[in-house]
Amino acid sequence: MSPFIYLNSPAREWVYNHDGAQSGTHESTVLAFHKTIPEYNETKLHSLTDLATELGLGHVLLKDESNRFGLPAFKILGASWAVYRAIGLHLGLPVSDGRVSFAEVGSKARESGLQIVTVTEGNCGRAVARMAAAHMGIPTRVFVPSLMDEKTRAKIRGEGAEVIALDKSYDDVIPVVLEEAKAGENTILILDVSVEGYDTIPQYFVEGYSTMLAESDRQVLELTGGKAATHAIVPVGAGSIGEAVTAHFKSSTRRNDSGQARVLGVEATVAACLFQSLKTGKSVSVLTEDTIMCGMNCGILSNTAWPILRDGMDAGVVVSDLESHNAVQELSARGIPAGPCGAATLAALKRACADAKQELGLDETSIVVLYCTEGQREYMVPS
Ligand SMILES: Cc1ncc(COP(=O)(O)O)c(C=O)c1O
Repeated sequence: MSPFIYLNSPAREWVYNHDGAQSGTHESTVLAFHKTIPEYNETKLHSLTDLATELGLGHVLLKDESNRFGLPAFKILGASWAVYRAIGLHLGLPVSDGRVSFAEVGSKARESGLQIVTVTEGNCGRAVARMAAAHMGIPTRVFVPSLMDEKTRAKIRGEGAEVIALDKSYDDVIPVVLEEAKAGENTILILDVSVEGYDTIPQYFVEGYSTMLAESDRQVLELTGGKAATHAIVPVGAGSIGEAVTAHFKSSTRRNDSGQARVLGVEATVAACLFQSLKTGKSVSVLTEDTIMCGMNCGILSNTAWPILRDGMDAGVVVSDLESHNAVQELSARGIPAGPCGAATLAALKRACADAKQELGLDETSIVVLYCTEGQREYMVPS
């Protein structure tokens, strides 16, 4: 068997029922909320016909998150809904059905002297800062590992947030900031990772990603003449986007309707906590190394994501920086501005077709959706 793919065969039969971890907010409520954000846009779904032919697949479709509400990654979908819901929860405002505008929530937050803190490796912190600081005018502090480059810090500052660097890895910054949030009066921690005692707000992120999934469902039907996806490939860092994609494609509501799809999660070889966890059957932490797939550089899975990934993710795939870089180049040659995390999904598809095509049911009838989560950015080209 391939050392780069872990086949999680029981997941094929697993069905996700919505009374589980997710709070059950309807995706139309989340979409209606997203439409109130000034830079709202729907992202494209590209059909990569030549790649489908080359790999012997029906369709290879790529959901291009290189420009989501004016930011170069998908995160603002989760961050915007999480900031809005978390403040609503804190101040006792009726936000669960999106009835109060975010401007009103922002105004109430400012009146009450509320502050936001978060931790990031880049995309998430900038997205939280865009929503909380830039759109809602709330004082926002973003904690980052000191390894983060100055350009990324400047982008977060550009959203109006304060950036605080700590000489620690991302995983080790989280407990420090949890304490900071507990100690600070009127301070809310906005994080997409669930750790012990902190799981409500990460679920808001997961709910926020439903807009991307609702869009791609409709776009897939349009591009294929009415057929639904059979396979979805998603990058995995702490696992929240993977949780959203897995719950969506394994949902009980799809069983009779559009049909369930197989879900593959891709990780960087040097940060393969899902791969190791699937192998051992329990959530394990791994020591990570530097990778160009920065957003996926997490050594431990989000607490709430793990049970869903364990039960519903059909395969874990690991790819190297070089494979991800080659995929960036390949997409760029087709006019798609993907960054390394997003392009990792194409690298994973190639790996799956080379090493486990039959086992994963990949053939000329397959309709594969790649969730390309970020746009092109600078990185150190691997050799
Ligand atoms: C561009 C990009 N893709 C994928 C991920 C992985 O998301 P998650 O941590 O929800 O697994 C991240 C996380 O920050 C990211 O920034």
